[in-house]
Amino acid sequence: MVPSWSTEQMPQCANKTIIITGANSGLGYEATKAFATKGATVIMACRSIERGQQAATDIRNNVDTASGDLTVRQCDLASLESIKSFAAAVSREYDSIDILSNNAGVMAIPRQETEDGFEKQFGVNHLGHFALTGHLLELMISGDDESRVVTHSSGAHEFGKINFDDLQRKQSYGKWEAYGQSKLANLLFAYELQRRFETAEITQTISVACHPGYAATNLQYRGPKQSGSALRLRMMKVANRIFGQSAADGVLPLLYASTATDVQGSEYYGPNGFLNMRGAPEEQSSSQESYDTQTAQRLWRRSETLTGVSFEFSWYPYLREYCESRHIVALVSAIRPYVAARFPMTNIPTYLRDAVDTDPVDWVYISSQCDYLEVVTIIYDLFAHAALTVVTRYIERCFISTK
Ligand SMILES: NC(=O)c1ccc[n+]([C@@H]2O[C@H](COP(=O)([O-])OP(=O)(O)OC[C@H]3O[C@@H](n4cnc5c(N)ncnc54)[C@H](OP(=O)(O)O)[C@@H]3O)[C@@H](O)[C@H]2O)c1
Repeated sequence: MVPSWSTEQMPQCANKTIIITGANSGLGYEATKAFATKGATVIMACRSIERGQQAATDIRNNVDTASGDLTVRQCDLASLESIKSFAAAVSREYDSIDILSNNAGVMAIPRQETEDGFEKQFGVNHLGHFALTGHLLELMISGDDESRVVTHSSGAHEFGKINFDDLQRKQSYGKWEAYGQSKLANLLFAYELQRRFETAEITQTISVACHPGYAATNLQYRGPKQSGSALRLRMMKVANRIFGQSAADGVLPLLYASTATDVQGSEYYGPNGFLNMRGAPEEQSSSQESYDTQTAQRLWRRSETLTGVSFEFSWYPYLREYCESRHIVALVSAIRPYVAARFPMTNIPTYLRDAVDTDPVDWVYISSQCDYLEVVTIIYDLFAHAALTVVTRYIERCFISTK
């Protein structure tokens, strides 16, 4: 089927800075090519610098990248440390990010763990991107222009279940169940992020999701290769030839979700053809489970605890809502970035974070759970730390400017 929306119709991306994870292979490679052809600065976040550079060289040699620019950076989503270093380097070098494409993934591999002990499919596909987005949030929302977080899910989310009792699938592991869980988590995350943007009245940044249908890429070969099954590998090659569309066609929903002007937050794009496996991008609905706000909030809290990354705006709206004084709102706005950087929400007791995350905030529950002294200590810590940080920053700035 010839897609009715193609890269020809894709808007120009000059002056846009785009991060794409897993940019060296399959859909990430095709997306990088398309973005660069449209003039974007693309930061290729790759697990292997060599494979990333090879891909960048191929793209530069084979397509006219117009005024676009490709930069390869190491980012292993199976390592929280690597994600943090990547985000820190990007924050030092760039003022803002226009599109964050959470694309990299692994599928149906034998059970393995990430550097931080997470089941690998959940760890790379969901937790890694959760942490990355959290680290880059300030860069995404601070620019003057519209920005987007685009998360790559899959039709496999339909059979996914979030097993909160065994998120890391230590008790029982099924490679497809784990993949389904990670892809459902991608959608729960994408929609919850949009809800949090809306609650925080952040309108210039939106969060959307997409899936490619079935595209013949390296994704299907990793599982069989890692489990040493020559038969499964052969079967996958045949299946890819019969059912798979090209990676260039499979990436169209991601490109549409990233660039089309009519895209709204929380939308989900996929191919419109047979069984949504191929075709032109269209807006679609995902499973009922993926829109469940309670599951999404619970997953969010667990993801914050597991990764140690908190999205600084997640507590801001509640404070704003419950603080009547405009002065406090102004103060909180001013110190928010400093507090978030130096005082992660993970330091706040879990019961408090859980209660604050309910809507409306369950103050009765909070007061039954903690004594006043503890609350006073937390608030004192929060503001003392923030005040100290602001003063330190001010001195640093004066020092630098008079140097
Ligand atoms: N192809 C399909 O039919 C299909 C269907 C539904 C959804 N999807 C989704 O589309 C996305 C892209 O998949 P694809 O088809 O393009 O597969 P692919 O060709 O295998 O590419 C996957 C990319 O992810 C990278 N990656 C894997 N582990 C990583 C890690 N720990 N840290 C950083 N990067 C890592 C890979 O890097 P290396 O090359 O270094 O391994 C590679 O660049 C995935 O999220 C997948 O779930 C694909």
